[in-house]
Amino acid sequence: MSNYLDANRANWDERADVHIDDRTGAYGIAAFLAGEDILCPIEAGEIGDIRGLDLLHLQCHIGLDTLCLARRGARVTGLDFSVKALRHAAELAARTSLEARFVLGDVYDAPDKVGGAFDMVYTTWGTICWLPDIRRWGAVVAAMLKPGGRLYFADTHPMIQPLEEAGGQLAPTFGYRTPTGLPLAFTANQTYTGDTRQFLNTENFEWIHPLSDILMALIDNGVAIERIAEHEALPWQMFPMMAKGEDRMWRLPAGHPRMPLSVSISARKRG
Ligand SMILES: C[S@@+](CC[C@H](N)C(=O)[O-])C[C@H]1O[C@@H](n2cnc3c(N)ncnc32)[C@H](O)[C@@H]1O
Repeated sequence: MSNYLDANRANWDERADVHIDDRTGAYGIAAFLAGEDILCPIEAGEIGDIRGLDLLHLQCHIGLDTLCLARRGARVTGLDFSVKALRHAAELAARTSLEARFVLGDVYDAPDKVGGAFDMVYTTWGTICWLPDIRRWGAVVAAMLKPGGRLYFADTHPMIQPLEEAGGQLAPTFGYRTPTGLPLAFTANQTYTGDTRQFLNTENFEWIHPLSDILMALIDNGVAIERIAEHEALPWQMFPMMAKGEDRMWRLPAGHPRMPLSVSISARKRG
């Protein structure tokens, strides 16, 4: 398993260096530095008032969302396993004079590296697909929350993860549940932002977790689902046929059968 995660970490280190330059503007760093909130409309409309909360952002990448959450008044801790991503996150915090703690570590090591008792765990957009064992993720979320604490999760809908676009059609290509020890192997020569700089560490491994596994990973660990919502939009162009809206979100073209592209979940640790 460590080989998969080592390959992913090397790939993410390279992505972090490309993302912080933001040559295509996909990450909205200029807007962020100018003081704009760059959370997507989905989570911006769902997280509610987070002022004064101790908030843990799992897989915080270069810290943009973490720092937007700090601007909204939360006391934020971001965790990620990419040392380069966290270096950039710390620089962004310094440039914006926002307070944040960034901790280097694997998600599964969060209880040892960070400790628990957070009011909120926040994890969005491109997170659990990098984790081999979703039940273990649920246990980590539960361990990090204080009783009554809340999880906010938003990500690609598992219904579309098995699909790829071929000849203008979405076709089932991968199984709907990836076995822990048998990840989907991909080669990524460049990142998803449109920046064409080529990677040296191209190999990466992903897991598709069905919705039932995500929900049961939480429920079985004492984190009760309070709200689940499906959305016809994603923050990135997952399929070439998708079109970008004025709200920076990508959707299927007009006339295509409607499908849920993302899912958001609010859940609470039993008190
Ligand atoms: C798509 S980014 C998440 C971006 C996030 N939406 C944000 O706030 O910018 C995925 C992140 O997960 C991190 N990651 C992947 N696997 C991980 C693991 N096992 N433990 C910790 N971080 C991991 C990567 O380093 C990367 O920064």
